[in-house]
Amino acid sequence: TRGGIEFAVADLEAAEFGRKEIRLAEHEMPGLMALRREYAEVYPLRGARIAGSLHMTVQTAVLIETLVALGAEVRWASCNIFSTQDHAAAAVVVGPHGTPEEPKGVPVFAWKGETLEEYWWCTERMLTWEGEGPNMILDDGGDATMLVHKGTEYEKAGVVPSAEDEDPEEWKVFLELLRASLAADKGKWTAIGQSVKGVTEETTTGVLRLYQLAAAGELLFPAINVNDSVTKSKFDNRYGIRHSLIDGINRGTDVLIGGKVAVVCGYGDVGKGAAESLRGQGARVIITEIDPICALQAMMDGYEVKRLETVLDEGDIYVTTTGNKNVVMVEHMARMKHQAIVGNIGHFDNELDMAGLARYPGVRRVNIKPQVDEWVFPDGKSILVLSEGRLLNLGNATGHPSFVMSNSFANQVIAQVELFTKTEEYDKEVYRLPKKLDEKVARIHLEALGGELTKLSKEQAEYIDVDVEGPFKSEHYRY
Ligand code: NAI
Repeated sequence: TRGGIEFAVADLEAAEFGRKEIRLAEHEMPGLMALRREYAEVYPLRGARIAGSLHMTVQTAVLIETLVALGAEVRWASCNIFSTQDHAAAAVVVGPHGTPEEPKGVPVFAWKGETLEEYWWCTERMLTWEGEGPNMILDDGGDATMLVHKGTEYEKAGVVPSAEDEDPEEWKVFLELLRASLAADKGKWTAIGQSVKGVTEETTTGVLRLYQLAAAGELLFPAINVNDSVTKSKFDNRYGIRHSLIDGINRGTDVLIGGKVAVVCGYGDVGKGAAESLRGQGARVIITEIDPICALQAMMDGYEVKRLETVLDEGDIYVTTTGNKNVVMVEHMARMKHQAIVGNIGHFDNELDMAGLARYPGVRRVNIKPQVDEWVFPDGKSILVLSEGRLLNLGNATGHPSFVMSNSFANQVIAQVELFTKTEEYDKEVYRLPKKLDEKVARIHLEALGGELTKLSKEQAEYIDVDVEGPFKSEHYRY
C-alpha cells in the first residue's frame, strides 16, 4: 500500500514510460475516447465497484481509465501469468495525476511472469475489497467468475474437494487457494456472489463457461457475452490475431516465416486471422479442423486441410487456435521436424500437451530466454515451445494493437453500463448487446479511419425492410 492504494506490480518507476504509451494508445482507441466524451459529467458507473481480470496491457490501461472516467471504482488483475506489460501496470497504479511516490490511480495486482500461486493470489486480491465487495466483474476467460462460483459452491458444501492425480497443476493450485480462503473467511465468496450485479465476458472460452453455468441453472448473476458482439469476435479475434500472431513468433524466434510450412489448428475467427497472418509472410499454410463448414471455408480460402498426423514431417511452425484441449500431444511433438516452432494462441495452455511433454522419458528443457524454451528429445531432435504453451501473442509480444482493442473494449464499457444501470431488466442468463450498439461501435471506428458510409434512402430502407438508422441486418445474419 502506498498513498492509500493497494497494489502488487513489478516496478512503479516504469510508470512514466507506461503513461507515454497510454497517451499514444488513447489516440488509437477512438471508441473508448468517444464513450468518455459521451458520458462526461453523466458518470453512469458512479457506485460501480468493478473487479477486472483481463491482460494488464497498455490497451487495458485505457479501458480501466475509461471505466474510472465514467465514475467506477476499479481493481485489476491480469488473466494470464505472462501477459502483463509492467510499465502499463505501473502507470495505472500511479494514475495520470500521481507519482510513484504518491500513486493516485487504481489498485493493480499483476506482473509479467507470475507463478500459478501468484496468479491466483492476484485474482483473489483483486476480488477482495475493503468494506463493500465488488458489484461488477469484467472477465476474460472466466477465471474471476469461476473463483466466485466455486467459492460459493464449496462454502455451501462446507468443504473444498481434493484434486485428482491427473488434474492439471493449475487446478490443484486453485483448490489450495480456496481451501485457505475457506479456513480464513467462510462466507467471503457467497457474499461476493450476492453483491455482484453482473459480469461482462471478453472471450470465446469464458463465454463457453458462462453458457455451461447458465444451462446448469448455476449462474449467480446476469452475464453479457461481449465476445459475440460482431465488432468484437469478427475483429479482435481475427484482425487482432493477424497482427499479433506473427509479432509473437518474430519476437520469440526471429525465424523467417516466408517459405516455411505453417500448420494452424482450428479455422474459427482466431484461426482465420492466424492463417492470414502466416500467409501474409509467405508461409504455406495447412489447416486442421473438426468442423466440415470451417474446413471447407479454409479450402475455399486456398489453404490445404489435413489431419495433424499427416503433416508432422512437413510443418515448421504449429499454432493452435481451437479453444479445445489436447490438440497437439507429445506424441505429435516427438515426430516434428528439428527446431519446429510450437505455440498456442487459444485461451488456455491445455491445447498443447505440456504435461505430457514435461513427463516424456529423457526429454530435456533448455531455456533460451523468457517465454522461449527448447525441448530436446532423446534422439537429439528438438522443438521450440513459446510461452510455455500459453497465449503466445501476449506472452512473446504485446497482444493485439490499440485500434482493434478499442472495438472490443467499447463493447465492454457499454456492457458494463448496461448491466450496472439496468440490472433489474436482466435475469441470471447470458445476453448479447443489441445490434444497434454493435453498429455504433463500428461507426465510430469507421469514421476514425476515414471511411465513408453510404446513406440508405427511405425507399431503399423500406425495400430491404430495415430502418434508415439501422439495425441493418437481421439477428441471424452471419457477417
Ligand atoms: P471459434 O469457436 O470461432 O474457433 C475455434 C475452432 O476450432 C472451431 O472452428 C472448431 O471447430 C475448431 N476446433 C475445435 N477442436 C478442434 C480440434 N481438436 N482440432 C482442430 N480444430 C478444432 O473460437 P475463436 O473465437 O476462434 O477462439 C479460439 C480460442 O482463442 C478461444 O480459446 C478464445 O478464447 C481464444 N482467443 C484468443 C485471443 C488471443 O489474443 N490470443 C483473442 C481471441 C480469442
